[in-house]
Amino acid sequence: LLPSAFKAIEEEKVRAERDKPIEVVFAYGSQTGNAAEICKNLAAEATEKYKKDKTMRVECFACNELDAETSLKPGTVILFCVSSTGDGDAPDNCDMFLTRLKRRVKKTTASDPVLAGTQYAVLGLGDQNYSAFMAVPRMFSTTMEKGGATVYKKRLEADDTLGLYEQVDAWVDTLWEDLDKAIARAKSARENPKGFLTSSSTNNGSKSDTTTTVTTTTAKEAILSSSYKGIPALQPARVKISFTNNGPTERSTSSVELGKDALATRETPFFAKIAAKKILTNASSDRRVVHLEFDCKNKNDSVENYEPGDSLAVLPKNDIALVSELMTRLGDVEGTKTFDLEWIEGMAPPGSDVATATKPLPHVITPCTVHDALEKYIDITSVPRKSFLRALAECCTNDDEKDRLLLLSSRDGKEQFQTEITDERPTLLTLLRTYPSCSISFERLLDISSPLLPRMYSITSCKESQKNPSVAFSVVKYEAPESKETRLGVATNWLDRLPVDDGDEKKYDFKIPIYKVPTKAFGLPEDISKPIVMIGPGTGVAPFRGFLQKREALARANPSLQFAESWLFFGCRRKDEDYLYEADFNAFVENETLTRLVPAFSREDPTGKKVYVQHKLAEHEEKMRDLILREEAYVFVCGDGAHMAKDVHKTLLSIITNGGGKYENENDAEALLREMTREGRYVRDIWS
Ligand code: 2AM
Repeated sequence: LLPSAFKAIEEEKVRAERDKPIEVVFAYGSQTGNAAEICKNLAAEATEKYKKDKTMRVECFACNELDAETSLKPGTVILFCVSSTGDGDAPDNCDMFLTRLKRRVKKTTASDPVLAGTQYAVLGLGDQNYSAFMAVPRMFSTTMEKGGATVYKKRLEADDTLGLYEQVDAWVDTLWEDLDKAIARAKSARENPKGFLTSSSTNNGSKSDTTTTVTTTTAKEAILSSSYKGIPALQPARVKISFTNNGPTERSTSSVELGKDALATRETPFFAKIAAKKILTNASSDRRVVHLEFDCKNKNDSVENYEPGDSLAVLPKNDIALVSELMTRLGDVEGTKTFDLEWIEGMAPPGSDVATATKPLPHVITPCTVHDALEKYIDITSVPRKSFLRALAECCTNDDEKDRLLLLSSRDGKEQFQTEITDERPTLLTLLRTYPSCSISFERLLDISSPLLPRMYSITSCKESQKNPSVAFSVVKYEAPESKETRLGVATNWLDRLPVDDGDEKKYDFKIPIYKVPTKAFGLPEDISKPIVMIGPGTGVAPFRGFLQKREALARANPSLQFAESWLFFGCRRKDEDYLYEADFNAFVENETLTRLVPAFSREDPTGKKVYVQHKLAEHEEKMRDLILREEAYVFVCGDGAHMAKDVHKTLLSIITNGGGKYENENDAEALLREMTREGRYVRDIWS
């Protein structure tokens, strides 16, 4: 080749790079779906806003769908919309991405920052009640910063206790302006690569005449053409399915070979039989609390080697009756067909194309059958979100039905959404019955559905006393207020339906995919000279049975050990209805493992006055103050976070301030509880 030809090729490369659209990425890491919902709506709004500008491309992905090596390039403008779970762990759909991003950033040097030219912002969601508040959003920020990326908007730390959506709305109000500026900077940097980091250009949205369009598809245009009063247009379809003749990939195949030291994880769970089952509530109670023991003996070290405070995650299945009905209603697919998933051309994550992209919808393990996808991988029963209703609206042929769904997903339909959706909690099937003209394809359903999430249960035992870990849960069943239909919680009803192992290998083939989730903070203190105060009404008492079994086992193994006091505050409705593990706790008192057992029966007072654990704590105020302030007790709270944990917190504050002196002032008492939280002496495992 002649030198001039080389030059031409080089120039062509530079031009091709410059002509690629700016990637404006909305990436979510979401456990319960709030962050995903916010992120998808923002992406939809951005798509609408910038739809005429063919020099950029708006996209929305779960972080794990993005390749941390290739998706963040000079020019990329990304918004991370992420939350923290439990002990500050990354949500299941962004953990892998974050790990890989950190690994990539390790290679950064001052002269060669790996993320130079990428601009980012972080929208963090969290709940102050959890000790690891904002751990994950902050980790995203620090990792991006270390890699040399440029922040285009200051991180939001939205706190659920102060109203998540109000804070998000306020932040988003100014997001668009900042995003415009970031996009303008990315565009001008492309024209003048060296100027990027110092560029302060606010060349808002000006079109370059050297650009091309790559993403517009007719389907996308059709969907985007219909935005509605305050509801953003929809994100276009991203995935398609292709039927294959390959056999399905079972979750199980990878775990069958698990050796003794292998780790069971969500991807390679351990399949356990149910070794024993007990109903902990009396038949007269309208609650049903089930105790289950999983058979893990000598088969899986990672599950078997658990500590009190750890949780077991269970991968549940949707009710097969519901799945079959749903399949009939969808009508477009056969359950036995095996399919694979692909990105629609132009919809794959940045830095990749259909051929090289990470698999779409990582939670759907493919190839799999249609039936398995509906049974194991997608959520078909939890409260539908607005974006989901918006997508269903697009599939209605009847205009009244379409309008109703659009109203429900709009700001104008706030009240209707509250009664018809939030309170009524229709399942997907109920919705499809209410809107008979809605004809959604299986493919589109996969694309817009949330993953069926693992459920976490506190382990109620300790390995020294009980080789098989056990859990306890309340079976979730209630009546919808309007339709009076019965609604069933997915995992608890499934577990409750499964039979107990009868020892007949041939007949017993029900195995439950589980893995252990170790606790970071919620465990027995090593220092046995420190007292423990355990507060756990309802199934919140579960981990404390494990704590006490452990103390009992330690004392048995070494009778000379001198343990400090232990107190358990347990709350239930009535002594003879829902006193969970009553015999066990009494036995712990009997053999002096437990110093004091203080039950609070909420529905036994003849005047109807509620008696809760916090009232009992207050009755023992002086003792509690002494244990906390003088003896440096560890305080554990487990159970309902919406009300109980807050009420208990207030009671602890008043116990501390009532003592006068150093902590008389509530601010000082708060500071003490914060300090105790940092030291792991005030630990909460709460859920709402
Ligand atoms: P209730 O159902 O009578 O209101 C376990 O669920 C126990 O926790 C029940 O006895 C329940 O009482 C009680 N409970 C409900 N709200 C509570 C709160 N805010 N604080 C403490 N306990 C509460």
